[in-house]
Amino acid sequence: VSPGIIGAPFSKGQPRGGVESGPDLIRAAGLLQRLQEQGCAVKDYGNLTFEEVADDEPVGRVKRARAVGGANQRLSEAVRAVKKDGHTSVMLGGDHSLAIGSIHGHSAAVGELSVVWVDAHADINTALTSTTGNIHGQPMSYLLHELHAKVPVLPNFSWVKPCVSAKDLVYIGLRDVDPGEHYILELLGVKVFSMSEVDKLGVARVMEETCDYLSTRVKKPIHLSFDIDAIDPSVTPATGTPVVGGLTYREGVYITEHLCQTGLLSGVDLVEVNPLRGQTEQDVQSTVSTAVDLLLGCFGRRREGNHPTDYR
Ligand code: ARG
Ligand code: MN
Ligand code: MN
Ligand code: MN
Repeated sequence: VSPGIIGAPFSKGQPRGGVESGPDLIRAAGLLQRLQEQGCAVKDYGNLTFEEVADDEPVGRVKRARAVGGANQRLSEAVRAVKKDGHTSVMLGGDHSLAIGSIHGHSAAVGELSVVWVDAHADINTALTSTTGNIHGQPMSYLLHELHAKVPVLPNFSWVKPCVSAKDLVYIGLRDVDPGEHYILELLGVKVFSMSEVDKLGVARVMEETCDYLSTRVKKPIHLSFDIDAIDPSVTPATGTPVVGGLTYREGVYITEHLCQTGLLSGVDLVEVNPLRGQTEQDVQSTVSTAVDLLLGCFGRRREGNHPTDYR
């Protein structure tokens, strides 16, 4: 398994500066070396650069649509190329609007996907249901076939083609879902393991049920979109929209270990690390090192220990 890393230093899917530093911070915390040490042939594709967009006026309530559309078009091409090179794509955000390009490009390369979305939020508002206008709260609405007719085409979004079916999507960790989002989730019958289900079932059963659910039909490549705010803010406080009552560090790592063991993990996003949202250096360090550990779990790290012959 060979990770191909793409940095996406982009923050315009939400209003808070700082999240564009995520990719470099995660690298500076030793991601590449640690992956190499655990036997991964990792390739770093560097950071994408994004065009400045003049006059990116709101479209209805939606903010900075042109910048977000343009950045995601670039990202989609980059992820597609990394997949064509034979890697598991790893997109380091940046804000969660980047899931649009990451999932789109992944699907363009490999076809139909399963998506496991680990987040405090559902990020499935449409341009019309969003109350904030922030596109990081909307990415899934642009990606789902079932919402295609409900979503207006924003400027610089005409390239986005829906590529995920509602039955191929599973959420884990939800605890801050807007009323419009809850309506959409129930209308489409999306599989959701909210924090209540994690409490009730335990993370092991949640992951078993997630994988059973996703493999009842054909086994599709899995795209994991991990928002660091899924983890409890006592562990990962340096993020733009923290919500109390999140996953523990151990639950988060277990999710990545389990998905790694399916052998189907084909693309990963790690988003919403924002150093400017930490109160202390320790806040930032704890957030970034958790992000690194989640990624190591995706690529074969086992807490019981590893040795060279079980590198995969
Ligand atoms: N539901 C809220 C919104 O639509 C918050 C979204 C937070 N999303 C995130 N990727 N952190 O604006
Ligand atoms: Mn979130
Ligand atoms: Mn419900
Ligand atoms: Mn999110």
